[in-house]
Amino acid sequence: AGATALLSGCAEDSTAADGPQPGRDSAGDRNRLHVPPLVESSPGAGQPRTFDLIVQAGRSAIVPAGETDTWGYNGTQLGPTLRVRRGEQVRVNVRNTLGEATSVHWHGMHVPATADGGPHQSIDPGATWSPVWTVDQPAATLWYHPHPHGQTEAHVYRGLSGMLIVDDDDEARLALPRTYGVDDIPVIVQDKTFDETGRLIDTTHVGTGMLGDTILVNGTAGAQFTATSDRVRMRLLNASTARSYAFGFADDREFDLIATDGGLLAAPLRTARITLTPGERAEIIVSLTGGEQVMFRSYPQDLGASGAGTGADDMFDVLRLDAAAGLRSSPPTPDRLTRLDRLPASAARTTRRFEINLDRINDEKMDMSRVDQVVTMNTTEIWEVANTTRTPHNFHVHGVRFQILTIDGQDPPAELAGWKDTVYTPPGIPLRLIMRFTGSTDPVTPYMYHCHMLWHEDIGMMGQFVIVAPGEQAATIPTAEHQH
Ligand code: C2O
Ligand code: CU
Repeated sequence: AGATALLSGCAEDSTAADGPQPGRDSAGDRNRLHVPPLVESSPGAGQPRTFDLIVQAGRSAIVPAGETDTWGYNGTQLGPTLRVRRGEQVRVNVRNTLGEATSVHWHGMHVPATADGGPHQSIDPGATWSPVWTVDQPAATLWYHPHPHGQTEAHVYRGLSGMLIVDDDDEARLALPRTYGVDDIPVIVQDKTFDETGRLIDTTHVGTGMLGDTILVNGTAGAQFTATSDRVRMRLLNASTARSYAFGFADDREFDLIATDGGLLAAPLRTARITLTPGERAEIIVSLTGGEQVMFRSYPQDLGASGAGTGADDMFDVLRLDAAAGLRSSPPTPDRLTRLDRLPASAARTTRRFEINLDRINDEKMDMSRVDQVVTMNTTEIWEVANTTRTPHNFHVHGVRFQILTIDGQDPPAELAGWKDTVYTPPGIPLRLIMRFTGSTDPVTPYMYHCHMLWHEDIGMMGQFVIVAPGEQAATIPTAEHQH
């Protein structure tokens, strides 16, 4: 109850805080937002653009109570922002210096199954894994995080996550803010719980998983960002293990929603709220006036489920934007962003059903050696997903972007009409998703689909599919594919 009470106290009625705490905001006690470094790298002649990620343990100063044992990529917490361009070949050398196996999954990235970084691409302690792929998808805000079998929640909670930005020529032609860390900022939102010495602690698993009482943005508690331009693009990523957020500003100002998981919307959507469940992303552009201060918050939300154990009633401050007195002016958001063709239901050859219940999908718990679905390359499919529980869940598919055809038989709302790879599945409401499978076939190496509430994923709410050539059969999955 203590955590909920703390979170529910909004800025207006909070008392002076003794340090950065969510929901408390006495002037001057916010911490400057950490902006993860951008890894600049240039491809050598004929060589892929190469990034190096070292998975490591360390200590981070997050809360005043004391330093926290955390895990990070190339640092003690989170990871650098990787930036890749459509059309180029990319290679990432991931070296695991932890005492246990992990993996790195490129969430939202269209990669060959062997480069996907799911539980089958486990990286043993001391080993290096070096996937290579060609970026073949539009500009988007993606992310990377561990995906070890049964351990994803623990690894993400300890700090392993990073942003992965895809650029392309079409997005580059638009008059959008794009100076990283200045008017185009990553906003990686997570909730954690610390003990009185600053140690990161696991809370009880409630309906959706572990709910933390401290909100971090890019690893910073009680964060503040000083804006120097009159429009700021915020790349929002819900990298929490269980918590969903209904983001908006304290004065309910509207902003432009310009992109969702898989890339730009056809046109900006003017709105005052955007809900993100774990794993989902959105890009928004907010306008600021010189000298003002405005709090970016999460509001109570309607998850279509009973509030107990969902965090849906919680409200808290996320990131304060402090506008400098004189702001550089930037062009208004363009009226049109991209061409977005809706995939027609008639294009689909196959319809599959996925029933989400308790710790399983279609009555099966995740089994690394079982292929649940065999998909044929270059075909379009409809996936009908139904959450048959009373608990919130969501649904993420690897290796592909999808569009939402219907939610409860209706057209999706405008904020869900673009490209997605993760979608909220309210209790009792069926969704129909449409997706086209392209790329390379691999009858041996599966992709995953699962609930992105990571406790649910870990306890079995996940399945596997392979993509095969027409007429090809799925082969038996080899048991150990570890990188030694
Ligand atoms: Cu973001 Cu299978 O995960
Ligand atoms: Cu779930």
